[in-house]
Amino acid sequence: MRTWVSPAMRPMRQATTRAAGKSTSGFARPEKIARIKGVDGGASRVGEELEIRGWARSVRTQKERAFIDLNDGSNISGMQAVVNEGTQAWDVINSGVVTTGAAVSVRGALVASPGGKQAAELLVNELEVIGPADPESYPLQKKRHTLEYLRSIAHLRPRTNTIGAVSRVRNQLAYATHKFFQENGFLYVNTPIVTASDCEGAGEQFQVTTLLNGLQAGAGPSPEAVAAAESKVKAQGEAVKTLKEAMKAGNATKEQVDAEVAKLLQAKADVEALKSTGGTTSLPTNKDGSIDYTQDFFSKPSYLTVSGQLNGEIMACAVNDVYTFGPTFRAENSNTSRHLAEFWMVEPEMAFADLNDDMDCAEAYLKYCINHVLEHCDEDLEFFEKNVAKDNLRERLRGVASQEFARITYTEAVEHVLAAKKKFEFPVEWGSDLQSEHERYITEEVFKDRPVIVRDYPKDIKAFYMRLNDDNKTVAAMDVLVPRVGELMGGSQREERLDVLERRIEDNGLEKESYWWYLDLRRYGSQPHAGFGLGFERLVCYVTGVENIRDAIPFPRYPGSAEF
Ligand code: 4AD
Ligand code: MG
Repeated sequence: MRTWVSPAMRPMRQATTRAAGKSTSGFARPEKIARIKGVDGGASRVGEELEIRGWARSVRTQKERAFIDLNDGSNISGMQAVVNEGTQAWDVINSGVVTTGAAVSVRGALVASPGGKQAAELLVNELEVIGPADPESYPLQKKRHTLEYLRSIAHLRPRTNTIGAVSRVRNQLAYATHKFFQENGFLYVNTPIVTASDCEGAGEQFQVTTLLNGLQAGAGPSPEAVAAAESKVKAQGEAVKTLKEAMKAGNATKEQVDAEVAKLLQAKADVEALKSTGGTTSLPTNKDGSIDYTQDFFSKPSYLTVSGQLNGEIMACAVNDVYTFGPTFRAENSNTSRHLAEFWMVEPEMAFADLNDDMDCAEAYLKYCINHVLEHCDEDLEFFEKNVAKDNLRERLRGVASQEFARITYTEAVEHVLAAKKKFEFPVEWGSDLQSEHERYITEEVFKDRPVIVRDYPKDIKAFYMRLNDDNKTVAAMDVLVPRVGELMGGSQREERLDVLERRIEDNGLEKESYWWYLDLRRYGSQPHAGFGLGFERLVCYVTGVENIRDAIPFPRYPGSAEF
């Protein structure tokens, strides 16, 4: 039995979002707005002389006074900077260079704000424009932009409220992840990005190769060159036709026609020769025509990893509980709001652990993350509540963190779906994979917005490494389903019995030889172990209420897009 460290067991920490100011290293960056505002909106700092650097979100000028909505990225509300007539700052404002998007530095005293909107504001004496932003062309004016539009300007969208808040919550979720596993004695390990094995066996890997690099040097003809050669053929064809007609009329000789036909044949041959230069024909091949990967960079077909799990297992079987947190890649051509081609996965792997330990860990970790953001991202969550989730987001999260997750078997899940009065797009029967619509129905409707852990899936729809249950039909797998998102985590107890694992590898059509090292873990010191993977962007979506996963990562990669 393991016990999980949860926030309630630790003393409360300060409610600061970012460490700033004096640190034990003696290194100090200028204080940022979130820190200045602290927990009381800055009320306790009134009277202090401060310098703040940030970007003007908007500038409002009245007769004797101007207001700059200043944001330095450290929080959502920023700082109201007030400029009075007669100051140096007033002259700068009047020159018209302080516009939306401009980088500025302001100096002045923090004063109690007369308006009810904020506790304190900065009364500016000096203002310096560090980098102007031409209002004619700056795309982010103070109005609402759609998330779709913002994706097309991903280099500027972190400056918006929504993506700024996503970035801060994401940061805190990453921090909470490390804290949770470190406090529970897990070792952080890094697993490779490039791999020769397909962990999930779903064939969704991106290939990594340098074989194409060589091809570029001797690249095929340009489309222009081919078009030019082809038009030469056409022109020569016309010439031959004209001459043949002339010959019929007695105005040309057969020798003349033959000479032009010879030119035509040559032009056609030139096109073929041109087309066969470069191209795939120069990939190194074996005798049977297959690609000769011994000449590739890694001497065998290699891919971007879909999961760090197999390497995580190696580490767990040596240094005990570990976790990885890294980028993973899937070339699944699914243009959904839940899939990315490049996403980050948190993958713990526990030694001497079974499926129950795995489920306990998953539940404790998710609750820990939720409690952490509730504690550290209140202002951002409030923003999401009002503008994105448009519901009682924080109350919902508190509810999730304080109640037990439901735990059911796959068989029970199927029964729930079959008994539903609702119509689904995809039918369900025992043995088929649960679709997102079914997963959401179970967690949102059957269990009334409670996370649900579904366990013991049919072996045929799960990966080879999952431990076979005694019924020989199901495996010790578990998926954590949450409202709105569906599958948030997927994991299992791993097959620790050598003979069973060998059979499972064969049954899945995989080559035993390429998993020799994975099988060795079962030959020497094998023990039951278990782990799971959490899709980090799905966690961000879940906690913020952001609907599209492309808005949960700064630079999303999906079919057809690797911009920025
Ligand atoms: O369920 P998956 O495929 O599990 C594994 O890869 C295991 N090897 C993990 C382990 O046991 N160590 O993926 C894990 C999670 C999913 O539950 C989902 O949240 C997320 O990764 N995920 C994706 N997130 C965004 N885009 C995609 N294309 C995703 N595919 C999976
Ligand atoms: Mg899964």
